[in-house]
Amino acid sequence: MSALLSLRGVERTFGGLRAVDGASFEVAAGTVHGLIGPNGAGKTTLINLVSGLLAPTAGAIELGGRAIAGLPSHRIAGLGVARTFQSIRLFPELTARDNVLVGQHLRRHPSLLARLLLLRSAGEEARAAGERAGALLALVGLPDRANEQARHLSYGEQRRVEIARALASEPSLLLLDEPTAGMNPVEVQGVAQLIRRVAADGHSVLLVEHNVRLVMNVCDRITVLNFGKVIAEGTPPEVAAHPAVITAYLGSER
Ligand SMILES: Nc1ncnc2c1ncn2[C@@H]1O[C@H](COP(=O)(O)OP(=O)(O)OP(=O)(O)O)[C@@H](O)[C@H]1O
Ligand SMILES: [Mg+2]
Repeated sequence: MSALLSLRGVERTFGGLRAVDGASFEVAAGTVHGLIGPNGAGKTTLINLVSGLLAPTAGAIELGGRAIAGLPSHRIAGLGVARTFQSIRLFPELTARDNVLVGQHLRRHPSLLARLLLLRSAGEEARAAGERAGALLALVGLPDRANEQARHLSYGEQRRVEIARALASEPSLLLLDEPTAGMNPVEVQGVAQLIRRVAADGHSVLLVEHNVRLVMNVCDRITVLNFGKVIAEGTPPEVAAHPAVITAYLGSER
């Protein structure tokens, strides 16, 4: 099992607070890896460190064996990491399709020389990109919503547009921060199937999620954070039976 993403002793402090405190774990290629833990455990901070929104204060992060800790987010995106946000970040006035095109833009940058040689019309290129964005919206279950402004979509639909936008850059690693927040059970089931499908297509997924049932159903392995530290790691049944996890979630002293 080769690691696509590897974290060793990753730390991020905010003033005196250790939001991520020496976290080490690996995400294997082509797997869905869950990252769970109570509110404030450091899950979003960790996603921010991997995606380059924040730099770690210590530790190593490697993507496919390449050190990425502290690189700017656009460089990390260019290396194949895409993400969604816990709080939705779509352009509300743009259509669903145009929001997805924003993500696709990253991978559609034919060199100037190629443009001059091929003299491809911008119209043709734009049409192909639009078709691909439409296909991604169909993949996330929104085949009829491409022309709708994002602000007119339901919360669950907006989250799915975010996933389509992240997939548009053809990432090797997809980071999802609470993708089912605010969704109804039917939508949650759709996202579960989508995540499995994304992994089956060869992408790796790091999934932050409070819906424990979803995590147990779709993840190959799970890492549990509490107060910034990894307190457990394993398969879903292993993690569910782990005493430290039960204590962290129930807040008891056993
Ligand atoms: N930019 C920041 N400045 C200061 N403190 C921060 C910052 N970002 C996060 N924190 C703190 O770091 C800790 C971890 O926050 P984080 O958002 O990573 O937790 P989380 O596991 O994602 O929680 P939730 O499940 O509520 O989303 C919290 O105590 C939070 O207040
Ligand atoms: Mg969070």
